[in-house]
Amino acid sequence: MTKKLFIKTYGCQMNVYDSARMTDVLGGQGYATCATPEEADLVVINTCHIREKAAEKVYSELGRLNALRRFRRSEGRDLRIAVTGCVAQAEGGEMQRRAPFVDLVVGPQAYHRLGDLVAALEATKTQAIDTEFPVVSKFDALPAQTSSAAAAFLTVQEGCDKFCTFCVVPYTRGAEYSRPFADVHAEAERLVELGAREITLLGQNVNAYHGERADGGRCSLGELVRRLAEIPLLQRIRYTTSHPLDMDADLIRAHAEVPALMPFVHLPVQSGSDRILAAMNRRHRADDYRRVVDALRDARSDIALSGDFIVGFPGETDADFAETLQLVDDVGYAHAYSFKYSPRPGTPAADHDGQLTDTVKEERLAALLAKLETQRLAFDKTMVGRTLDVLLERGGRKPGQLAGRSPYMHAVHVDAPKSLLGSVAAVEVVAANPNSLTGRLAR
Ligand code: 5AD
Ligand code: SF4
Repeated sequence: MTKKLFIKTYGCQMNVYDSARMTDVLGGQGYATCATPEEADLVVINTCHIREKAAEKVYSELGRLNALRRFRRSEGRDLRIAVTGCVAQAEGGEMQRRAPFVDLVVGPQAYHRLGDLVAALEATKTQAIDTEFPVVSKFDALPAQTSSAAAAFLTVQEGCDKFCTFCVVPYTRGAEYSRPFADVHAEAERLVELGAREITLLGQNVNAYHGERADGGRCSLGELVRRLAEIPLLQRIRYTTSHPLDMDADLIRAHAEVPALMPFVHLPVQSGSDRILAAMNRRHRADDYRRVVDALRDARSDIALSGDFIVGFPGETDADFAETLQLVDDVGYAHAYSFKYSPRPGTPAADHDGQLTDTVKEERLAALLAKLETQRLAFDKTMVGRTLDVLLERGGRKPGQLAGRSPYMHAVHVDAPKSLLGSVAAVEVVAANPNSLTGRLAR
């Protein structure tokens, strides 16, 4: 009998990719995925540690799972529980103290060993913690994908050497590492064979990509994009997340020259104040960021920008925050994420003077969100009446509808036959809703 696996994924798209790869690994142990923890023999919680809220959610989720397990055991069945991802990495043994019922704690660089760990758990009830950074890359040990969505993710780079003072990533994901060009290319070809028409290249610092080439040289992200664009049937390429410092001229030029490279760039800036950017160790000023945005728009005038912002960083004054609002006005975002600063244990900023109250953070967050929301809605409105290419990836909200993404990342719903699933269709936008667009197939 096949065993049932339920994976719950928190956090970024890299975790979504990792969860898909863990599904492949556990498929080798006879596990097939199911839709709820109630049906599962093994539950994997793939966690995020970026902000405190994200990490705390894990423990409440684990509490619920423990209750489910007790109930199961009263019925003579078992439930196995594994925690993976960045909370697993950061907490390690601490997790087994706070939640001793967790069977496996496996970090993001060690999940290729999940199959063996699960086998040992089944055979001898051996609980384990594996938060090593192995010398051999996990990518070499992972089984090949056996299925792909129309819009697929492909991790090309991991880790970060930037050490922004607020961020846990350099500690949980480790030093920056780029996968060799040939491996990335082979995986992209495989995903396309399996039906992918769009690939989003992923990395914590994706535009720092410098994968080794067969000739021993290094391949930049711009070059990678150009090479992948030559794969027949691959219609769209995206990449995320980028650091402004690594936005080099070649990558910017690729936006002008490679039609498959989508006109949407997620480019976090965090703050518009040079003083705060310095305290964050971002290594660029607000005007450097403005210049990158201008260069992107010179390369491709319709490029849509998305960003990340942190409000209430230690020492942030009203004047600093006003500079963030000014930067938002200057850039004009299609979309953005904003967060209240969350002190993360072990990061330098957690010990900075001038920690702000939650009230101040809330006020600034509300002001920033209001401005960003106004920009987003205005941007979405400009889409009405336009015909956009939409990659139809899934069923829509209503029967008879399909849904997918515009080049600018809008969710678009359209009446369309199922036969169009997995293909790019021209869609005329008829309405901009609060969180999506509605369109009709254009003839
Ligand atoms: N507090 C608040 N937001 C944070 N981010 C990263 N670390 C923190 C933190 N300690 C945000 C940044 C980053 C995004 C992924 O999460 O904006 O770009
Ligand atoms: Fe974290 Fe991004 Fe800064 Fe790296 S560049 S430390 S991942 S915020």
